[in-house]
Amino acid sequence: MSRKKITVIGAGNVGATTAHWLVSKELGDVVLVDIIEGMPQGKALDLAQAGPVEGYDSRLVGSNGYRETAGSDIVVITSGIARKPGMSRDDLLNTNAAIVSSVTEEVVRQSPNAILIIVSNPLDAMAQVAFRKSGFPKNRVIGMAGILDSARMRTFLAEALNVSVENVTAFVLGGHGDTMVPLPRYSTCAGIPVTELLPKDVLDRIVDRTAKGGAEIVSLLKTGSAYYAPSAAAVEMVEAILKDKKKILPCAAYLEGEYGISGLFVGVPVKLGANGIEEIIQINLTAEERASLQKSAAAVQELIDVLKI
Ligand code: NAI
Ligand code: 2OP
Repeated sequence: MSRKKITVIGAGNVGATTAHWLVSKELGDVVLVDIIEGMPQGKALDLAQAGPVEGYDSRLVGSNGYRETAGSDIVVITSGIARKPGMSRDDLLNTNAAIVSSVTEEVVRQSPNAILIIVSNPLDAMAQVAFRKSGFPKNRVIGMAGILDSARMRTFLAEALNVSVENVTAFVLGGHGDTMVPLPRYSTCAGIPVTELLPKDVLDRIVDRTAKGGAEIVSLLKTGSAYYAPSAAAVEMVEAILKDKKKILPCAAYLEGEYGISGLFVGVPVKLGANGIEEIIQINLTAEERASLQKSAAAVQELIDVLKI
């Protein structure tokens, strides 16, 4: 069986760390692309030289162009600018839309059958830019956010319950922004709903901290945003696809009527396998949860209206 080829566009904090997790799991050969001369080449060479120590044989190539990306199975797009303190994800809108649009055009030319995983912010709008620009079917354009947001919630829940993070599942729906919808009712510890294990005030604090999870890290780092957990989340998506795991994960997907939302990327549970998004899972929501999801979708729609896509 030949190796899979994974391209990561943008070799900054998220892109380089994505490459790191990818090769450490030996998910395939990796091509790192960035516009900064020498930087993706240097990071690829450095990571390749960790192979003998860590025991991976993945080949790594860095480039400032796209020729080396030809025939990729998966392309992870992380290029763009990141948040600084005081900036919202939406402040990145126009700059990153231009970057994601031009990058998608190049990627598609070289890898017409690839599955695209979008990471650049504002996430749901950037997924929509890549979807429109690529002309790919909706199962092959997927946004990464829900795994990160629910991993944050799982971390906080496990801490409050004093249990292993592996015992805790969590669900976060909606756009990757201040209006995201963490759902304690669908979050569990060893199968037990957390609503039966933690008092409401503790859960409310965790929901609030989850929704502000990105900003908490930006305010600590001061010069950029989170990248270890975001890249780990993107790699979980790559692994689910390349291993055809049929794994149910919260991702930004193009909705056509599901949850009463149409023509928009929003975070929902999906089944990820060899064909990308193989199913959008619809779960029952209370009237209040449904209203929160609609509000979150409306916030994404506002960005789409600005971009006119
Ligand atoms: P970074 O600044 O460390 O890296 C971005 C890289 O993109 C830079 O190296 C830059 O040179 C490169 N780049 C810019 N224009 C390019 C182009 N046209 N072609 C190729 N490369 C280009 O930023 P970081 O921390 O890696 O974040 C990347 C993006 O991911 C940001 O937009 C950030 O907001 C977003 N993000 C999204 C998350 C999510 O949950 N969806 C989580 C974390 C970050
Ligand atoms: C995060 O949630 C900035 O979207 C990025 O950390």
